[in-house]
Amino acid sequence: MAVSVKEIIESYNPNAPLAEALTPPSSWYVDPRVLELERRSVFVHAWQMVGRADQIREPGQYFTAELAGEPILVVRGSVPRGFFNVCRHHAAAVMTRPEGKAETLRCPYHGWTYNLDGALIIAPEFAGVRNFDRSANGLVPVQTALWEGLVFLKLSSEGPSLEDFLGSDLTQQIRALNVEKLHWTERRTYTLNCNWKVFVDNYLDGGYHVPHLHRSLNSVLDPGKYAIEAGERFCLQSSPISTEKAEAQTAAVRQGNRAHYYWIYPNFMINWYEGVMDTNFVRPLGVDRTEVVFDFYFADISESARERNLASIAVSERIQAEDVAICESVQRGLKSRAYSAGRLSVRREVGEHLFHRLLYVDLKRGLSSQAVDPSEAHPVERC
Ligand code: FES
Ligand SMILES: [Fe+2]
Repeated sequence: MAVSVKEIIESYNPNAPLAEALTPPSSWYVDPRVLELERRSVFVHAWQMVGRADQIREPGQYFTAELAGEPILVVRGSVPRGFFNVCRHHAAAVMTRPEGKAETLRCPYHGWTYNLDGALIIAPEFAGVRNFDRSANGLVPVQTALWEGLVFLKLSSEGPSLEDFLGSDLTQQIRALNVEKLHWTERRTYTLNCNWKVFVDNYLDGGYHVPHLHRSLNSVLDPGKYAIEAGERFCLQSSPISTEKAEAQTAAVRQGNRAHYYWIYPNFMINWYEGVMDTNFVRPLGVDRTEVVFDFYFADISESARERNLASIAVSERIQAEDVAICESVQRGLKSRAYSAGRLSVRREVGEHLFHRLLYVDLKRGLSSQAVDPSEAHPVERC
């Protein structure tokens, strides 16, 4: 008899301490039913980074996105607002370009027009339609909040504010990095043939793979001094930077005292070096297909810094290519009958353990539309 999704989720033990823990079973990574459950129970309830505040600096500026399969529109009216990009008439996308500036939001299908705050202002040829309340046919809003120059949305109207979701520990740490002084330069998008969690696991292995897989990056980091700090819903991995035995191309663009790698549950990363930052947004496209969106930021974006900034992106791309290849190899292995689950390094894989337990809590809650009985809930402890 086929194994149920409930059995798959419950076959992971979230109560095992790190020294005894197993990873989630491989079925979490290969079964499409688990991805569907994640969509409903993880991605709909989590705050997700969808864009930058500088894209909607002036009234009328907007961008579109897709979040957990939903078409989204973010626009600055009287304030920045997010909406489902779905016309209330017959469901066409109201704004069809990735970004732009508009005085009103006009649907291309039959011309229904909304103002920048989402209210329906024009519905052509609708005279004679009975019981039609224009004020009840505005665009459907999505919770929207800004943090450190980034725009976050949450599809569910329930759950914590962005501030509470991130937590004061994380927000204070990021504030100290002055990321708002950095300038966005470009976006690069990668598609990987693996489950989204394979990419996140790889990111969260505490530098375990760095000496083996990323020789050039390893030459500027100090694996022995690599520190891992797990918060409530985030993990910071950091390492002193040393240029003594460094590979020249990497050393030229990875400077400062310390590299900081932040992961924020479930699928967002901030990689910060002195004057250089990239963010990674991890988007599941299918059970074994994932899109990772890199946004690159630099302190100096003058013409004289251009070559150096491009060299920095090239270093990042080389590391990403190494990660893509290993993630796709892992996905093939997860499908093998030879593998069911693996163990975790106590020294290195604290972040993965946190990730798996947070996921378990959300997935377990999602198995039922009702809240999990508090006696059954497994609170995630700080490591
Ligand atoms: S679907 Fe938008 S106006 Fe008809
Ligand atoms: Fe890596």
